[in-house]
Amino acid sequence: MAKFQAPKGVSEYVPERSNHFDYVRSTLINAAQVAGYQLIELPVFEDTELFARGVGESTDVVRKEMYTFEDRGGRSITLRPEGTAGVMRAVIEHNLDRGQLPVKVYYSGAFFRAERPQAGRYRQFYQVGIEAIGVADPRIDVEVIAVADRAFRELGLKNYRLEITSLGDAATRESYLTQLRAYIAQVDLDSETRERAEINPLRLFDDKRPEVREVMSKAPVLMDYLTPESSADFEKVKELLSALRIDFHVNNRMVRGLDYYTGTAFEFVHADLGAQSGIGGGGRYDGLMAQLGGQELSGIGFGLGVDRILLAREAEGLVLPAEFGLDLYIVPLGVGDAALALAEALRARGIKVDMAFGDKALKGAMKSADKSGARYAIVLGADELASGEVQLKEMQTGESSSVTLSALANELIERISSFGEHL
Ligand code: HAM
Repeated sequence: MAKFQAPKGVSEYVPERSNHFDYVRSTLINAAQVAGYQLIELPVFEDTELFARGVGESTDVVRKEMYTFEDRGGRSITLRPEGTAGVMRAVIEHNLDRGQLPVKVYYSGAFFRAERPQAGRYRQFYQVGIEAIGVADPRIDVEVIAVADRAFRELGLKNYRLEITSLGDAATRESYLTQLRAYIAQVDLDSETRERAEINPLRLFDDKRPEVREVMSKAPVLMDYLTPESSADFEKVKELLSALRIDFHVNNRMVRGLDYYTGTAFEFVHADLGAQSGIGGGGRYDGLMAQLGGQELSGIGFGLGVDRILLAREAEGLVLPAEFGLDLYIVPLGVGDAALALAEALRARGIKVDMAFGDKALKGAMKSADKSGARYAIVLGADELASGEVQLKEMQTGESSSVTLSALANELIERISSFGEHL
């Protein structure tokens, strides 16, 4: 029988690489949690109409990339291509917007877009995202950006840059779109492109074809049409980013791939990733909640691409921090029951412990200790149990020291925490 393979273009992670994935994802989640974002866990499929309306009919995501199917009840269902529309749906449905504002939530999970697979572009991929809904304050724009930037720095990334722009408010867009439509009306375009431009002329900035790029390079730029209020907000965002020492580059031609953006929009771009360089992006969305049947409340958030951030770490040659791995590996010599009891006692103290199973010979078990990546190893045999003492071996240096079994937990805890202080 032919062997089964994963579906084309999906990302999946098995050990050892899954440890790196886990580290990236948990660091991103932690960065959101320490800023007061709470978990929102949502279905991976929703009513198709939610994305059509929320993400926008003119976007590639809705036009070409959705996994849409009819369920057994004849309903049109779509696997979520992004997280913001679902969060909005849930906030409205559960009346979260009637409580304390802003509503600050984070999510982590799989997203689906039927794109042409290539390095860093998958049909099932992972995002960690946050959304802060209900307060239009430039400080929140900066908080959201800072959460991502802090996470990237914690992950050790260096070769990335933050690009920001402002897409203005409704009045900005009204005057700008009039100019842009007038410009587009007098240039040469095929009928499909023109049709697309009629739904959302901004989409043409996204078009990769050289002839369209050429035309759009001469189009009016939105930033020149910002109303005084939008302009003041954008100035404030820039000022606060500088105060927090977060480097940024203003990119006044940035067009995000989703239709709901207004005001501040941003992307983090990594230099070592080739064509799929966006490691995360987001922005403010003033009209989305009302568009989905809720109140007129503003929101802002980001989605960070866990797969691409992992690739970025690999491109920068970053290794897993020691404290993310195992602390201790136990090699039992004929005393497996005692080893298991010791492992459980140490685990109960928060120490990360694994051990050899299945009566492995010493040599094989030491190899497993090596491969486990644990920082320390002990051999536990009848002698050690009788004397109550083990040799605690530091795997990297090969240095051993005598520790009594009763002091082992405290000794490990001390060493682990003092290791952290040296970082
Ligand atoms: P997005 O820019 O479409 O925004 O996606 C965010 C990130 O997800 C991208 O920067 C990229 O790292 C990753 N990503 C997107 N598509 C793929 C793919 N096919 N393969 C691998 N990674 C991918 C959003 O999704 C918005 N919901 C973000 C947001 C939240 N805006 C406001 N709130």
